[in-house]
Amino acid sequence: MTSVKDRFLSMLINSSEYISGETASKTLGVSRAAVNSAVMNLRNDGYGIDSSTNRGYILTDRPDRLDSGSIGAFLSGERMHDVTVLPVVDSTNTYCKDLARKGAPQGTVVISDCQTGGKGRRGRSFLSPSGVGLYLSYLMRPESGIDKISEITCWTAVAVCEAIRVSYGLDSDIKWVNDVLMNKKKICGILTEASFEAESGTITSLIIGIGININEKRSDFPEELESVASSISIENGGKTFMRSELAASLITRLDKLASDWPAEQGAYLDAYRRYCITTGNRIAAYTTIAGDSEPRTGEAVALGDDFSLEVRFDGSETTTHLKSGEVSVRGLYGYT
Ligand code: BTN
Repeated sequence: MTSVKDRFLSMLINSSEYISGETASKTLGVSRAAVNSAVMNLRNDGYGIDSSTNRGYILTDRPDRLDSGSIGAFLSGERMHDVTVLPVVDSTNTYCKDLARKGAPQGTVVISDCQTGGKGRRGRSFLSPSGVGLYLSYLMRPESGIDKISEITCWTAVAVCEAIRVSYGLDSDIKWVNDVLMNKKKICGILTEASFEAESGTITSLIIGIGININEKRSDFPEELESVASSISIENGGKTFMRSELAASLITRLDKLASDWPAEQGAYLDAYRRYCITTGNRIAAYTTIAGDSEPRTGEAVALGDDFSLEVRFDGSETTTHLKSGEVSVRGLYGYT
């Protein structure tokens, strides 16, 4: 984050008192004219800034904008160096993958206010309208083999639930493998994409893509998603939530995840088991176990130590550990 406008916005957000023009120009290392111009630009973006001749500037109205200044208010200036915030992009995962290819370090983050080609799992698209959601990709360079990737995705679901709790004081749940739900509706999807070195089978980069529905209204979703998807706002009486706060808290949680990996597996497993609402329920699994193309029904009995779902399929004496795939859970998303 380099612009005077962004840095002054961060200062304003963090101050409950007027900031004099002199203090602003000294702290930011720019002229008074540059501060004036930042104020003008921020007002054009919809920020309410009161200015008083003797006292300086104070923020009086803060719209829900996803910009570097409002995210940077909750992170250090140094951390923001590796955070790119865009107004629009095809997919933050694709953009982040390009940065990874060019040698960007672990911890690089790409956030966009809108995606024109948001990607979901299994080749699906992810609805990403502007001004309401959070679309974030995080670059990890873990020293682990292919088999461990699905576990990072599960750790990420835990990080999302905790960021939502810290930022908004709200509870959410995990539907195995990595949908985050509120009141049994999906409010967040995670798509992790990896690049490998073929010879050694090691991961060269891992892009963790997270899409969170925050301030969407019911009418923002197409009819076919009505029983499945929702937003944090819809589930909380139409209240508007500040996306920048969740973005910053998610970055903090993902930084912790990257430094916890892989040693703190036990803590993430315990948390995942607490958040997961799949276990103990009837499920239909859309995997091709034994060549089946039809979903198989059964009961999700437990979560294995490797985050696999232990299922007792109908008519079977033994249990099966699912490592990946899609499951429908009775009582969720219209599955009865
Ligand atoms: C799913 O539930 O199918 C996964 C959806 C993942 C969406 C996020 S939004 C940020 C990142 N960029 C993308 O193109 N996709 C992921």
